[in-house]
Amino acid sequence: MQESKNTIERRKKNRIRQFHHHAFRTSDMEATRKFWEDILECPLIGTFVETTDPVTEEPSNYIHTFFELGDGTALAFFQFQEGLYKESAIKGPQDPFDHHIALEVEKKEDIFAFKERLEAAGYDHMLIDHGYCYSIYAHDPNGMQIELTTKVPETVEIMEKHAKTAHEDLKKWLEGVTEANNKYRRMRDKA
Ligand SMILES: [Fe+2]
Repeated sequence: MQESKNTIERRKKNRIRQFHHHAFRTSDMEATRKFWEDILECPLIGTFVETTDPVTEEPSNYIHTFFELGDGTALAFFQFQEGLYKESAIKGPQDPFDHHIALEVEKKEDIFAFKERLEAAGYDHMLIDHGYCYSIYAHDPNGMQIELTTKVPETVEIMEKHAKTAHEDLKKWLEGVTEANNKYRRMRDKA
């Protein structure tokens, strides 16, 4: 059965275009990689080594990996160097490293439009330029951390480049080589 015109029109009007990624923090990236890549066959397509925590804006060290699904969306994971992730006393997910769901919008203008809507409704938010995408973060009324994100002109180039070295980058980081390899990132955007 074909979807009705109503259904198609309703979806066309939705500025949240699609699922983008889901993120979770791990303390064992290699076990995570084995599960998602070796068992479930989702290829590791990026390992970004970061040396600043964009939440606290302080020096830190962690990797951000992406395992790709068949539609181009991904499952993302973070692992911090031992002792560098600060657990808070708050129960449940405390920041986007612990857990968040990311939804894709078509363009940066949509991010800014939602920023205004969030502000008008009294929600705190945070803009982050990741280099390979541009995002706004907020909490829904249940405390669920959400990210709205859009591709940028550099997205494909950066992701294609990182896909080639993702395994090597992961191996090196796990072995203690912790220099940043995401040179495109501009961090917190106060715009
Ligand atoms: Fe994310």
